[in-house]
Amino acid sequence: MHYPASSYAPDWLTVPEDANDLVASVWPASARRDEEGQVIIGGIGVGELARTYGTPLLVIDEGEVRARAAAVRDAFAAAARAHGSTARVYYAGKALLNTAIVRWVTEAGLNVDVCTGGELEVALAAGADAGILGFHGNNKSSTELERAVEVGVGTIIVDSEIEIERLTAITARLGRTQRVLLRVNSGVHAETHDFLATAHEDQKFGFPLGDAPAAVARIREVPGLEFAGLHCHIGSQIFGAAGFRESASRVLDLHELLLADGDVPQLNLGGGFGIAYTRADHPTPIAELASDIVAVVAEGCAARGIPVPALSFEPGRAVVGTAGVTVYEVGTIKDVVLDAGIRRYVSVDGGMSDNPRSALYGAQYSARLASRTGAGQPVLARVVGKHCESGDVVVDHEYLPGDVAPGDLLAVPATGAYCAPLSSNYNHVPRPPVVAVADGASRVIVRGETIADLLARDAGVGQ
Ligand code: LLP
Repeated sequence: MHYPASSYAPDWLTVPEDANDLVASVWPASARRDEEGQVIIGGIGVGELARTYGTPLLVIDEGEVRARAAAVRDAFAAAARAHGSTARVYYAGKALLNTAIVRWVTEAGLNVDVCTGGELEVALAAGADAGILGFHGNNKSSTELERAVEVGVGTIIVDSEIEIERLTAITARLGRTQRVLLRVNSGVHAETHDFLATAHEDQKFGFPLGDAPAAVARIREVPGLEFAGLHCHIGSQIFGAAGFRESASRVLDLHELLLADGDVPQLNLGGGFGIAYTRADHPTPIAELASDIVAVVAEGCAARGIPVPALSFEPGRAVVGTAGVTVYEVGTIKDVVLDAGIRRYVSVDGGMSDNPRSALYGAQYSARLASRTGAGQPVLARVVGKHCESGDVVVDHEYLPGDVAPGDLLAVPATGAYCAPLSSNYNHVPRPPVVAVADGASRVIVRGETIADLLARDAGVGQ
């Protein structure tokens, strides 16, 4: 059956043959429907999950995280091996961080990138060996740096001259040697399909390429600092290799220059590998990206007559993004009649507090009825939250079955990355629990907030 498209649908959104289908690229590999039509993730029905934990609920498929962690590890290692080098993968914890995730990715052999003192404490609380951590941030305080040096963080990615001075003082005081990378700003910025290359990128991170030699010379003079190489990160949700190629070749020029005065054993090219959020997204498979990027580095090194450094990469989204599915309950439904059709507003019991990415970035998602399969002509719907704000959109455009009704469970896939970490208590809506599913079992990995949690911080309660 082929239904007509709404004139309010964006060009990329086509009317699905089946508005109950689970598009493989945006769901965890374990997702399927049972005989009754209910969505099953990690062997458990969303109905049972909702009854046990309530809604909204962020479900994380443990097997998917472990499999993706292993896949990125292998993709970069194989690509580097093909050019006689090595590659380490740091999981970028900012995408989703809790002790369970740290354990899963470290068990898969990944290192972990943290970017604040708080993230550092989560990794340590998970029992991660501090030596496998990379510590990022453009404004690390002396307290954060001291803690990192004290616990033995493997690599600190230096982002400013002031930080070099702070580390000089801290390492002298503690009598320690700290390995550091210098973050540079390559003038390349990439998002999704496009990249922009300028002489100077106008942003806060890293050293402009021209300022880096003096900063490295300064680091090399400090007895407590061991210079290991350069770091560069060009953006997030990147679909092709072109931006990485341009940036790598600029950074290699600097890398070669620095070799004249000492060792430069490592090169970290950051993260940013894109995932699919809707059926219209077709990111380059990670293995292809890895071999493309590593080949560019290897060819660049060969052309310059220098050895290929030990490489590292920092994917976040690509490890956890499609492992997450948010389950909501539909509350109210409203058809808004527009000039040439209707838009169905489907309100769910969460919203921009658990997923602000639509509001913040205009991010697109998809949605499916999850407690059952729906029937009827697909309608163009907008899934919205319960917040007092018209920009409180969860899924901007999606065709849902025409019989979507209050009480249905609605699932939004690909919410594993940058949803829980960006969540808030806006309108005093408690943050949902994070529940892991694997092999037919579920467990809370981060408990949901309660109203009591929210009131606990208000100094006037009970006065
Ligand atoms: N390394 C560095 C130095 C980074 O700044 C980032 C992300 C990553 C690695 C990991 O990038 P990924 O592989 O996950 O794309 N909140 C935004 C994304 C911000 C990314 C910030 N840095 C979003 O929700 O799209």
